[in-house]
Amino acid sequence: MKTIFKQILLFLVISTSTVLTLPTDERIRKHGYPVEKHVLQTRDGYVLTLFRIPHPQDAADQNTTRPIAFLQHGLLSSSDCWILNGPGLAIAYMLVEDGYDVWLGNTRGNTYSKRHVNYSPFFQRFWLYDWHEIAMYDVPAMIDYVLYTTGQKSLHYVGHSQGTTVLFVMTSMIPSFNKKIKSAQLLAPVAWMNNIRGPFVDLITPFLGLPNGFVELFGSMEFLPNNMILRALGDQMCKEDSIIQEFCSNVIFLICGWDKNSFNKSLMADIIDTHPAGASVNQVMHFLQEHLSGKFRQFDYGFLRNIVVYGRFTPPEYNLSKVKVPIFLYYGDNDYLSHPVDVHRLMSYLPNLKKAFRVPDKDWNHLDYLWANNVKEMIFDKILENVNAMESLVIKG
Ligand SMILES: *[C@@H]1O[C@H](CO)[C@@H](O)[C@H](O)[C@H]1NC(C)=O
Ligand SMILES: *[C@@H]1O[C@H](CO)[C@@H](O)[C@H](O)[C@H]1NC(C)=O
Ligand SMILES: *[C@@H]1O[C@H](CO)[C@@H](O)[C@H](O)[C@H]1NC(C)=O
Repeated sequence: MKTIFKQILLFLVISTSTVLTLPTDERIRKHGYPVEKHVLQTRDGYVLTLFRIPHPQDAADQNTTRPIAFLQHGLLSSSDCWILNGPGLAIAYMLVEDGYDVWLGNTRGNTYSKRHVNYSPFFQRFWLYDWHEIAMYDVPAMIDYVLYTTGQKSLHYVGHSQGTTVLFVMTSMIPSFNKKIKSAQLLAPVAWMNNIRGPFVDLITPFLGLPNGFVELFGSMEFLPNNMILRALGDQMCKEDSIIQEFCSNVIFLICGWDKNSFNKSLMADIIDTHPAGASVNQVMHFLQEHLSGKFRQFDYGFLRNIVVYGRFTPPEYNLSKVKVPIFLYYGDNDYLSHPVDVHRLMSYLPNLKKAFRVPDKDWNHLDYLWANNVKEMIFDKILENVNAMESLVIKG
């Protein structure tokens, strides 16, 4: 009962403005790399921040054209997730060292993209979106901006979790984007969600999974904001030497699962400082709806509003046969949010699946793709290998 009460409290805390000790660009500079900050506006008025790590050698010669790697974070995360491990270990820097022009996306509602031209995040209107809108507006706007700025025609896409979901939605709903992506490296892919699980999903689905549920009464709002109180608690509990560190970890890792054998504990303070990075309640609701319905389809508003929005009782399903991008999947066995059974179902619908890599570690979980001790050997080296292989195909072709 106490846990339920605590969860509900977490939902109801409305964000005070987030003050990060170190934003992405300052971290990148501290890690010894150059960085650029780019701001753009989506067609529906959200203001997004992109970070770019240009190759250190290019400062003197603006004319070098490098292949682009665009990195898209998951739910409640931000551009920080790709750099926290630091030089030599973080995928963003590994790509830079391998000669790529690296761009880090940030979707609406997170720490770096919590702005709209007309609505303040203090109003519910700001939070009226889910990952469908992120896929239809944010990711296309960011990709077009990157391609326009660099004068290139296509890029490599690396996504984690919701960052994979939005790739499937975008390329199936806006087929022209298939041509703009040379390869998609998808970590912990999430499309069908029949088998997602974990304490969080089990506890919350009854409240938020049904259309017209509890949240409809209030409208969408910010989900699990990164406010000062949570941060203070986290800091206090997560000191390297604290004996209750694992308890604290369980709060943070409640949604994503916990693998204490491979998790790099020295990253904890930085993770607490940057996560959760902000998302709307509807984003979480949409995932839980998929879990209950067993379908990969658009947001369910309940049948009356579905008729108004979609002209039918049930939301339309996403058609994955339209996803023509060469896809590389990376998935694991102890992942609460990307279950092997669901991933195999997804694979059967993908017309251009190049490779699917099942991590040979039965404890591998949702966040190990970012922060495990052995993530470089297990995942990042393979991403580089696959991206380099696709890049040489493109050059030859
Ligand atoms: C870049 O290319 C343009 C046109 O080819 C040339 O005029 C310019 O000098 C080049 N700049 C550098 C820094 O090499
Ligand atoms: C864990 O993270 C720290 C901080 O980035 C890093 O210095 C250390 O090498 C990492 N350990 C492993 C085993 O990757
Ligand atoms: C899905 O897309 C394919 C290819 O465009 C099309 O042939 C098929 O009819 C579509 N399926 C549905 C259910 O719309």
